[in-house]
Amino acid sequence: MCGIVGYVGEKQAAPILLEGLAKLEYRGYDSAGIAVCNNGKISMTKAKGRLAVLSEKTAGGKSVLGNVGIGHTRWATHGEPSDMNSHPHLSQSGKFAVVHNGIIENYLELRAYLEGKGFKFLSETDTEVIAHLIEYYYKGDILETIIKLIGKLKGSYALGILCDECPDSFIAVRKDSPLIVGLGEGENFIASDVPAILSRTRKVYYLNDNEIVVVKKDDVKIYDLDKEEIHKEVSEVKWDIAAAEKGGYEHFMIKEIMEQPEAVRKTVAPRIQNGRVVFEELSLSEEYIKNINKIYVVACGSAYHVGVVGKYIFEKLTRIPVEVAIASEFRYCQPILDDKTLVIVISQSGETADTIAAMREVQKQGVKALAIVNVVGSSIAREADEVIYTWAGPEIAVATTKAYSTQLNIMCLAAMYFADILGRISEDEYKSMLEGLLALPEKIEKILENKDKIQHCASLYYNSKSVFFIGRSLDYAVALEGSLKLKEISYIHSEAYAAGELKHGTIALIEPGTLVVALCTVEELFEKMLSNIKEVKARGAVVLAIAIEGHTEIEKEADHVIYIPKNDKNILPSELVVPLQMFSYYVSSLKGLDIDKPRNLAKSVTVE
Ligand code: F6R
Repeated sequence: MCGIVGYVGEKQAAPILLEGLAKLEYRGYDSAGIAVCNNGKISMTKAKGRLAVLSEKTAGGKSVLGNVGIGHTRWATHGEPSDMNSHPHLSQSGKFAVVHNGIIENYLELRAYLEGKGFKFLSETDTEVIAHLIEYYYKGDILETIIKLIGKLKGSYALGILCDECPDSFIAVRKDSPLIVGLGEGENFIASDVPAILSRTRKVYYLNDNEIVVVKKDDVKIYDLDKEEIHKEVSEVKWDIAAAEKGGYEHFMIKEIMEQPEAVRKTVAPRIQNGRVVFEELSLSEEYIKNINKIYVVACGSAYHVGVVGKYIFEKLTRIPVEVAIASEFRYCQPILDDKTLVIVISQSGETADTIAAMREVQKQGVKALAIVNVVGSSIAREADEVIYTWAGPEIAVATTKAYSTQLNIMCLAAMYFADILGRISEDEYKSMLEGLLALPEKIEKILENKDKIQHCASLYYNSKSVFFIGRSLDYAVALEGSLKLKEISYIHSEAYAAGELKHGTIALIEPGTLVVALCTVEELFEKMLSNIKEVKARGAVVLAIAIEGHTEIEKEADHVIYIPKNDKNILPSELVVPLQMFSYYVSSLKGLDIDKPRNLAKSVTVE
């Protein structure tokens, strides 16, 4: 949510800033801007709309001179997307320029205070108070000023700050918002996320809250709030550059859908050794696991949907009660936690504000948080008590696909691991799940080969006004994700419903021509799903069913059927989600929408 970059070096800063912002556009894309310091003077260019508008305005950055600068791509919170509300924001005299990711909760109070001191505000943003406040406090010592600033701000922030009196450097600081420092040869960077700097360096510092960095071309100094220098370890980013590029695909989303067999392989294979599930990264003792009497899974969006699938599997295998909670609600519902509770947080980015806040809350109460995370070095990865990485690689499209799939894999593996320790899983079931997980990449490949059929179904229904996804048990859990995928990238209203629940009210919305996607992969509930399909058909719905190969009797009831390969029943959700992702992708593509950057959304939701 909002992307920040900063550059200082020998080269012209603006083209490098734009290049970095292009890699961060998934974090926000309603406006963008850069500020560059040249000969002790800050110049700023901002533009509403996609980054391309800013790029055109500055001839790809070439028209903006200077070797030190900061840039921003925005996801609006305070004030509509406009040139004026775009970042950077200048202080009153133009001495300071600021880019910001996060929310300043006490900005109204600060704004009133500064207005009382004669400061004039040009934008509706919370960020502008930061620029003016810096100028108000500045008495020649920038470090001192930033420390004072931090003392006044409430909320979350990652800041890049340029000062015309320090033309060979810029300053950065973070609190509850991601920020890294990239270390190059004779040049250094800051960025909200790794892809922005990956083509220039793999060496990074992951900043912690309230660490202030002064970045020069051949020197990076980090200070704490007592002005003491902090010496950090340099981390090496392992991501492959190609993984963060489109590599010939039209969109990141379809590339990431296609990468799922490999992502699943990388996530599963290292965790199976000699026919057993192994989590070398976990330090939970057997005694601790045997003592757990309640598990909460806490997450947002698609990661929450993984939790819903996980609940079915965990409860079935371990017989430990599992509650799945939306992170933004969990914090305020006074959850009952004790030393026998395990909290599992799931997050692709590792930076989702609500998930981080929920995790901190449980840790405060002395409860362990086990995180399933994709981004190495992210806030959740660093703060959780236990971390299991999904090895999905960088996920750039706003709508998650491969991260969701690999999170599901981890939930299956973890349920097996726990159930094995508890002695509650039979050898037959254990073996069947292991084989299912190992065979999964090939089975997903087979589904991906069925592209034409899925694309054809999308071509028949891309003009739908409303779509219902129905299923029972694990199929219902996956329906939640199928429905979210469709609405977020195609803007078609859609709902996921437990198939048996539909007739308790919502069936009133089914009218002739309404598309119902019926998920029918839970074998013991197959007959019941056939009845539910008949019910909606009787009200005029058209039905696209997804079933397991061999269940051809469904063809008598549904208008269209997509088959997925047979597998262990607990592993099937990982297959089932794939045609749903593809269906949404092709619907959005046929509607000519911006698939990777759907309206109103951003990849990493770093505000509450
Ligand atoms: C939907 C989607 C979001 C995320 C949610 C949590 O396609 O991507 O719903 O799943 O914002 O994000 P993470 O997993 O980064 O915590």
